[in-house]
Amino acid sequence: MIVLGIETSCDETAAAIVDDKKNILSNIVLSQIADHAPYGGVVPEIAARAHLDHLDRLITEALGRAGVDLGRLSGVAATGGPGLIGGVIVGVMTAKAMALACDLPFLAINHLEAHALSARLTSDLDWPYLLLLVSGGHCQLLLVEGVGGYRRLGTTIDDAVGEAFDKAAKLLGLGYPGGPALERAARAAVAPGRFALPRPMVGRPGCDFSFSGLKTALGRCLAGLAQPLPAADAADLAAAFQIAVSDVLAERTGRAFERAMALAPRCRTLVVAGGVAANQMVRTRLEGLAQRAGWRFEAPPLALCTDNAAMVAWAGIERLRLGLRDGLDFAPRPRWPLDPTAPRAPGAGVKA
Ligand code: KG4
Ligand code: ZN
Repeated sequence: MIVLGIETSCDETAAAIVDDKKNILSNIVLSQIADHAPYGGVVPEIAARAHLDHLDRLITEALGRAGVDLGRLSGVAATGGPGLIGGVIVGVMTAKAMALACDLPFLAINHLEAHALSARLTSDLDWPYLLLLVSGGHCQLLLVEGVGGYRRLGTTIDDAVGEAFDKAAKLLGLGYPGGPALERAARAAVAPGRFALPRPMVGRPGCDFSFSGLKTALGRCLAGLAQPLPAADAADLAAAFQIAVSDVLAERTGRAFERAMALAPRCRTLVVAGGVAANQMVRTRLEGLAQRAGWRFEAPPLALCTDNAAMVAWAGIERLRLGLRDGLDFAPRPRWPLDPTAPRAPGAGVKA
């Protein structure tokens, strides 16, 4: 089984070819960073047009690099949501057209499901597992019991964690995209302890998150410092922020271990996925947490943490194997919760 994956839900245009033996035959990601950088964030209209400009060429290139022609494909999978709707439409329409023209199954993939299943592409990983999904649009703890079997144990009540990284980096003048820039800046820190940042939600029952207070506290610290901000202060503040976020993620995830075991007694694996899972401190803290609890820890390689099409193709394979496919009447979805029974989070963004 060989599937073409297409990802266009945010600011990466991506195409990949993956087979059911877990070989990533090609995986091309075109970042639109330069297009959006002047605006300090993703501009949906610019993103949609850029996807339209580049997607066809990327698909041709992905097929070429994989050495696979259209006749060998078993299906075409595209992110069907959640995400910036203009971009999602570009990917879905392209996939539908290819599926129709080549008489192939079309698969509309939930972008969050693609992140959730990405660790199964690179590791031998069975259900059930606890997933911490940390991206630009989400911060959720989910119990994963199978394809389509997701139970949300916690979510952010305001900002997503990647969004918090991006906003903090903007405040510190570190540029866009913020997460990687903030991580880089933090490496030069000498005394992060001189800034006291809060740990929102820590110690509270449940597994929900909150990050907006952390950003406000960072702004207050900044108000007392010289402007333009000296690089040493920016580094210490970046490190203080990264430590605070890691503390919060580790504490809330620790609480979810018990909940996960209560619902799925065999659950002893923690998986982290999504763009923020590329952060080394976050990974290390979660790994330590899992180790102390006697749990297995899995994190996809960095290139599969941030948005990519290999994870979309893989989710397509997981669904095809179960005999699932979507109709050509599938409508792209700006919102698409993984656990439809969970209450809608008040501040949840549309980004994935
Ligand atoms: O999953 P992703 O690529 O796109 C979404 O679906 O949102 O996640 C992007 C988010 C951005 O907010 C970005 O700043 C954050 O992940 N991110 C990081 C790092 N790399 C990406 N945050 C912290 N540290 C990183 N190294
Ligand atoms: Zn994502």
